Amino acid sequence: MPEAKVITLKINGQEESLHLPAHRTLLEALRESGHVDVKHGCGKGDCGACAVLIDGVAIDSCLALAWMCEGAEITTVSGLGNAENPHPLQTAFKELGAAQCGFCTPGMIIAAKGFLDENPDPSDAEIRLSLSGNLCRCTGYVKIVEAVGHAAKALREEGGEK
Ligand code: FES
Ligand code: FES
Repeated sequence: MPEAKVITLKINGQEESLHLPAHRTLLEALRESGHVDVKHGCGKGDCGACAVLIDGVAIDSCLALAWMCEGAEITTVSGLGNAENPHPLQTAFKELGAAQCGFCTPGMIIAAKGFLDENPDPSDAEIRLSLSGNLCRCTGYVKIVEAVGHAAKALREEGGEK
C-alpha cells in the first residue's frame, strides 16, 4: 500500500490535488475537501448515503480508498445539477416529496442515476431492487420509487441526455 502522498482526483469535472494518507477512504477525502453533499452514514457499506458515481457506476465511497480512484471520474450529487439547472432526478425528488430529512437523498439520487443509465425504462420492482442498498428512515420508499419512475420518463422524453 502506498504511503501518504499527493493524489489528484477528478471530482465533478474538476481536478483536485489532495495530500492523503493511504488509509483515507474516498468518503473521508471528499468530505474533508468540501464535498459535504456526500453523506457519512454508517461508514461500512450498509446505508448507501455516501454513494458517488465512479466512472458512471454507483459505489459506496466509504468502501473505496481515495488513492485507488486516481484517474477516475468521480461524480457527486452536486455534479448532476444544481438549483438553477437541476437533473430530472433532482426535480422529481423535490416535486414528488421524495426527500424528507434529506440525509439519504444524495445517495439515493446517485444510485438512481447509475441505475437509469443502465435501465432507462424500469418497472417499479426493478427500481426498488436497484435502491435496495440505500436506506431511508423517513419516506417509506413509496415517494422515492415514484420519483425515480417519473425521472426515468422525463429522461426518456428528452432523449436520455442527462
Ligand atoms: S456511509 Fe457508506 S454505505 Fe453507509
Ligand atoms: S428522507 Fe430522511 S432518511 Fe430518507
